[in-house]
Amino acid sequence: MSGNWTPDSWRAKPAAQMPVYEDQAALAAVEQELATYPPLVFAGEARTLQQKLAEVAAGRGFLLQGGDCAEAFADFNANKIRDWLRVFLQMAVVLTFGAGVPVVKVGRIAGQFAKPRSAPTERRGERELPAYRGDIVNAVEFSEQARRPDPARMLRAYMQAAATLNLLRAFTEGGYASLTRVHAWMIESVARTPWGQRYRDLADRISETLDFMRACGISDTNTPEIARTTLYTSHEALLLGFEQALTRVDSTTGKIYDTSAHFLWIGDRTRQPDGAHVEFCRGIANPIGVKAGPTITVDELLRLCDILNPKNEPGRLTIIARMGADKIESKLPPLIRALRREGRIVVWACDPMHGNTITTNGFKTRRFDRIRAEVESFFAIHKAEGTHAGGIHLEMTGEDVTECLGGSQTVTEACLASRYHTQCDPRLNAQQSLELAFIMAQALKEERRAQRVAAGS
Ligand code: PEP
Ligand code: CO
Repeated sequence: MSGNWTPDSWRAKPAAQMPVYEDQAALAAVEQELATYPPLVFAGEARTLQQKLAEVAAGRGFLLQGGDCAEAFADFNANKIRDWLRVFLQMAVVLTFGAGVPVVKVGRIAGQFAKPRSAPTERRGERELPAYRGDIVNAVEFSEQARRPDPARMLRAYMQAAATLNLLRAFTEGGYASLTRVHAWMIESVARTPWGQRYRDLADRISETLDFMRACGISDTNTPEIARTTLYTSHEALLLGFEQALTRVDSTTGKIYDTSAHFLWIGDRTRQPDGAHVEFCRGIANPIGVKAGPTITVDELLRLCDILNPKNEPGRLTIIARMGADKIESKLPPLIRALRREGRIVVWACDPMHGNTITTNGFKTRRFDRIRAEVESFFAIHKAEGTHAGGIHLEMTGEDVTECLGGSQTVTEACLASRYHTQCDPRLNAQQSLELAFIMAQALKEERRAQRVAAGS
């Protein structure tokens, strides 16, 4: 990659998916103000995350990444954040206890506000207005006023991200996430389902194990790992003016980190090797992800590895494949083989959401069966290639929404309308999320068994 990197070197490159602000002076003033605000995360935390992702890349862990497609200003309250966290912790515990692997927890939260869109405008009848690009840019309501990009929204997004992160830190460090509380994470809407029962059984076993450990002298008072957990944050690095404004020099290493989140990813629509988003991300020292959809070629992926991770640092780069259930079997193996042939160290994660979106009765939705099928193919492909199925990337919520079809407590087409709350893409509800966690725990367990057999132990 040619040229020196600076936090603003992306400005000289073509940038897809960026809003056009009418008032450039107002935009510059907001960006300058943001640049004076405190960092949301610390560089040291992002470094620790990279070390954990390096372990995942080496086959010794699993990345659990998930949250809203788009966070919303109007849907911002403690219960929603708490319920998302409960389901996320439940999933993590199912994976950790069920499969015996450390789980690296990364929320799509506390900053996931900017959205790429399939078209720059939206037409309803005779009217055509700019597309909704996430609450950090404009409002979802279909009016000229609402759709006008407003730079002041970035300040509100920063404040909401800060408050969300504050609550999450209090929950995860203040005892709420203690393994002694596994039963308390149960969500009302899941409690009476078969997956709720399975979770209760697993939670009973964890409690028994903790009782046994306490009897042996190991408890949450002398072993903080039992009482606390670490949750990292992530979002798509899309609105580059905002991201640039949150870059800070790390006083320990002298490197530049984007302190808006621990982990940033580049979307499938903005991963052009010569584009602004890749340019920005190559210079920040955070661990980063790249979405890889069905149109990516082997050459493009190798080029992205060269640009984004020239030193081949383990944990620096996560490839988030989002092929679709019908394409993953033909598209993913050539990419895995090419990276292995070139000795490229990455975390392979699966986003089974974005390649499986359909529209029924005017609702954007996804079938649980297709999501499950893509996840199962992802594990099967890695098993066949002898590589590690390293992680999952989901759009999910703790609320009892009806946005994705199916699951064992079947959401039908007829009931989609009843609790369809998303501002953007359809999310798995609490019950569907837990069901998927059990499916993945089983697949991970099988991967470990196969490894043990191969190692002759
Ligand atoms: C997303 O993660 O919400 C998204 C838009 O994904 P992708 O870039 O993979 O389409
Ligand atoms: Co989405």
